[in-house]
Amino acid sequence: MYNFDRIIDRKGTNAYKLDLREAYFGSEDVIPLWVADMDFAAPPEVQKAIQERSQHEIYGYTVRKEPFRKAIADWQAYKHNWNVNPDWVEFSPGVVPALVISVLAFSNPGDGVIIQTPVYYPFYHVVEDNDRELLKNSLVEKNGRYEINFDEFEEMAAKPSTKIFMMCNPHNPVSRVWTKEELLRIHEICLKHNVLVLADEIHSDLTLFGHKHIPFASLNEEAANNCLVFMAPSKTFNIAGFSTSYVISSNEKLLRAYRKKQNGLQMHMGHVFSGVITETAYNEGREWLKELIAYIEGNIQFVKDFIQNNIKGVKVIEPEATYLLWLDFKEWGMEQNELKRFLIDKAKVGLSDGSTFGAEGKGYMRLNVASPRSIIEKALKQIADSRK
Ligand SMILES: Cc1ncc(COP(=O)(O)O)c(C=O)c1O
Repeated sequence: MYNFDRIIDRKGTNAYKLDLREAYFGSEDVIPLWVADMDFAAPPEVQKAIQERSQHEIYGYTVRKEPFRKAIADWQAYKHNWNVNPDWVEFSPGVVPALVISVLAFSNPGDGVIIQTPVYYPFYHVVEDNDRELLKNSLVEKNGRYEINFDEFEEMAAKPSTKIFMMCNPHNPVSRVWTKEELLRIHEICLKHNVLVLADEIHSDLTLFGHKHIPFASLNEEAANNCLVFMAPSKTFNIAGFSTSYVISSNEKLLRAYRKKQNGLQMHMGHVFSGVITETAYNEGREWLKELIAYIEGNIQFVKDFIQNNIKGVKVIEPEATYLLWLDFKEWGMEQNELKRFLIDKAKVGLSDGSTFGAEGKGYMRLNVASPRSIIEKALKQIADSRK
């Protein structure tokens, strides 16, 4: 039994979530429930591996040998029923850097890249700051569930200058796990129009309430040939401060082009802990993850019950994955800035501003529930009291 109720003081650790409060909220005095990491201790097995490696006094250039790729392949088989040949795996310095590398490798300035908004805000930077055309295929909310506008998606894919679809699955922040039918439709459209799929599946291990993640490349051989999948143990095991991500593609040509660009940018080294952490997390973290997911589901149920009973006018978008809840505050009738200031100044709670994920996020806030339940309860009580 792991203890997720324990409150761990992160002060003095340069934690983004705490130490950037002043910069992001204009106040230190908020309960920080924003940045996507967890306030839980990493699995003790992983801590032990880090401690053991750190005992050695030399931290020189480090290779990731076969156990690294094998641990990833074993994990994919265990978690997603996906048969991965270890040769298909390449280390990457981070999922977002890997997306950048891929955009540089597989498109030219001016080419179109489709994203589905609202979405994790670095997606905008990956496209726009590399001078590609951003094509926003807005997700459509229907009765509290987000769906894909396939007509618009196909129109965008059909433009001759469109080269890439950057998919987020499970989707941050709307918490959808795309179904097999949806993925197949995406695949068919992309294949027909010669659009490469970059599948950011960093949240894939954190599906909830029985939802199952389907890796894009596991759909069928054609899909596998037309995509690169990006994953990491970083979100899953709360080790995002380490560089532990990787790319998978069974298409040798794509993987070779990815490697060439990554080497061209000299971003292939990683650090001394990345191999040992990935191997240990995947080989020894199964039980921890099961308990974590049960705890997060408990937190989500707690939030839903609390809001229903105590906070009028806030809707929880039914989550299918991640520890990030997408909350709809539109009934409060506030402008986005007013809503933001109200939550910071009156409730003293630091949530992610929905509008940072795109214009579609106006009226929404993202709540990170990966904290001990007592902290979540305190934050919700502060919101409820501030409305009295
Ligand atoms: C969808 C998505 N992709 C990527 C990342 C970050 O990946 P990395 O830290 O490996 O660059 C996040 C973090 O929140 C995310 O939500």
